[in-house]
Amino acid sequence: MMDWTDRHCRVLHRTLTQRARLYTEMVTAQAVVHGDRERLIGFDGVEHPVALQLGGSDPALLAQAARIGEDFGYDEINLNVGCPSDRVKSGSFGACLMREPQRVADCMAAMGAAVRIPTTVKCRLGVDEQDPDISLFTLVDLCAQAGVKTFIVHARKAWLQGLSPKENRTVPPLDYGRVHRLKAQRPDLAILINGGLETLDQAIDQLAFVDGVMLGRAAYHTPALLGRVDAELFGVAGAQVGAFEAVDAYRPYMARKLAQGAPLAAMTRHMLGLFNAQPGARSWRRILTVDAAKPGAGLEVLDRALSAVASARADAEDYLLQALP
Ligand SMILES: Cc1cc2nc3c(=O)[nH]c(=O)nc-3n(C[C@H](O)[C@H](O)[C@H](O)COP(=O)(O)O)c2cc1C
Repeated sequence: MMDWTDRHCRVLHRTLTQRARLYTEMVTAQAVVHGDRERLIGFDGVEHPVALQLGGSDPALLAQAARIGEDFGYDEINLNVGCPSDRVKSGSFGACLMREPQRVADCMAAMGAAVRIPTTVKCRLGVDEQDPDISLFTLVDLCAQAGVKTFIVHARKAWLQGLSPKENRTVPPLDYGRVHRLKAQRPDLAILINGGLETLDQAIDQLAFVDGVMLGRAAYHTPALLGRVDAELFGVAGAQVGAFEAVDAYRPYMARKLAQGAPLAAMTRHMLGLFNAQPGARSWRRILTVDAAKPGAGLEVLDRALSAVASARADAEDYLLQALP
């Protein structure tokens, strides 16, 4: 998710789930081909399985960027056909490509020919006045003819006129039924659903209709939810990872990155929601927000925040014990 997730965030999420596939934020093909690649798409080996999401609409450039992504070691290359931001509209990529399904298919054919790893599409139901039964199915069918087997569908339209990118993630109504019908009518394709899923129970309910789910905001704001994914979605017995365990597992990575000069806040900013709905969550957030941003901040800030959570938890347990008859 652009401006939110990055490699530090993915490593944190990987401490919570071994099985979920992680995606980069969208990086334009132009940037991958001409920019500072290590900074833009470098990642840590622990992130696997990890997909690189590209933005663009030029088949040759996308093919080149996909090949670079494969050489970097990514497990999948995904094309963004869902982002509605202004930057994206002017560059003719993202959601506005829902209007140009043949062009998307040409891009996917070029990317598929350039790499051996899977190439996938993330799209919307349609944009503006499009009829989703036509826009979604046409895009999927043309891309399937070009060799794409996996589609992640954000189950709402994007309204390119008059809504901000943020509003475009809440205002156009969700239509899960349309995505379920896509799977029912195209059973050979892997169809994953995205949009508005806030709990693992909601995600599990979706698996009765589609092949997979993608979580965006819920995973970012409540990362502890990912600690139950391997057990509850993938059926790996005993695989739950708690927030304290995740911090322990993340700590060596943080130490390594701090030693390489990364600021503490670049990592802790992704951890703010880790203890949400648990005692001490507010102190955790406050210490990490205020103290981690100070120059020279190191792991002692993390320790202080952990102590605050531990003591709030002990207080809550004492309180519960006293309340028992
Ligand atoms: C800050 C932000 C940045 C996003 N950036 C991307 C992006 O780079 N690529 C993409 O495919 N979707 C992006 N999205 C959309 C999400 O991936 C997802 O489709 C959308 O938020 C709906 O799913 P959710 O309700 O689970 O969050 C972004 C969403 C947010 C909130």
